[in-house]
Amino acid sequence: MNMYPNATTDIYGIVGHPVGHSLSPVMHNSAFRILKINAVYLAFDVTNLEAAINGIKALGIKGVSVTIPHKQAVIEFLDEIDDMAKRIGAVNTIINRDGILFGTNTDWLGGVRALEEVIELKDKKIVIIGAGGSARAICIGLKDRGAIIHIANRTVSKAKELALLCGGSFSGLKELDEISSEFDILINTTPVGMYPKHNEIVIDPKLLSNFNVVMDIVYSPVETLLLKEARKRGCKTITGLKMLLYQAIAQFELWINQLAPIKEMEKALLKAIG
Ligand SMILES: NC(=O)c1ccc[n+]([C@@H]2O[C@H](COP(=O)([O-])OP(=O)(O)OC[C@H]3O[C@@H](n4cnc5c(N)ncnc54)[C@H](OP(=O)(O)O)[C@@H]3O)[C@@H](O)[C@H]2O)c1
Repeated sequence: MNMYPNATTDIYGIVGHPVGHSLSPVMHNSAFRILKINAVYLAFDVTNLEAAINGIKALGIKGVSVTIPHKQAVIEFLDEIDDMAKRIGAVNTIINRDGILFGTNTDWLGGVRALEEVIELKDKKIVIIGAGGSARAICIGLKDRGAIIHIANRTVSKAKELALLCGGSFSGLKELDEISSEFDILINTTPVGMYPKHNEIVIDPKLLSNFNVVMDIVYSPVETLLLKEARKRGCKTITGLKMLLYQAIAQFELWINQLAPIKEMEKALLKAIG
């Protein structure tokens, strides 16, 4: 009989605010169950971030995911962060190495891996809509894969800032009318199309036929209006759920040091999202 949790159960979790909607517990706990690892993953709704990070050390929590709004602010409370987290300017994963808190970022890897399942990225011309935190993580990952990047954002000054960082070009959203035909891949990193505004779309749908691949990082709903319209026009589509899954898989493998049960984690995720 399974006697977990018990006095030797390892604790993992997510810190964010709010976190009640997080799908991370479902994914990580399903992996622990399948691999018979004596560990549990919990959600911590945190407003006092410094106290929560001290609590990780004090309680011996083994690993933590970090989500909105703490991904940038958490950096100052960690002992060490890696080069990728420095470049992205955000940490979404903390590893507790015998009391030393090490921060890294797996969001970029989630986005890149979801794309690479479908298309080789080197020299591909990619439009990224949005210039926020997730756009920054994805852009840096794509730059390292040798992609050619254009940032289109509602606030053009932010598009410019990100384009400078990843050696790409930039524009507002309206300019997409003229330039879309030059690109292979479109990625939406804005919340446009997310419940309850699931009838909204960030780009004129007729432009979608210019792209081979369209990815939306919004995952609620899974099949956004953008992806429906792209599929109608013959594009390959990638859901935000894939990015969510692959960033979690990278976290799990960093914490547990063994391969994650991808299929089971995906099944748990799909079941939870209905
Ligand atoms: N699938 C995943 O694993 C995953 C991971 C992270 C995030 N996400 C999702 O990605 C989305 C963005 O997250 P984030 O952390 O990058 O947010 P963020 O840092 O707040 O950035 C949001 C971006 O979207 C733009 N934007 C917002 N509302 C817009 C609108 N009505 N029309 C046009 N542009 C708009 C903003 O433009 P301005 O600069 O003009 O304000 C900004 O560039 C969220 O829906 C989040 O749930 C998914």
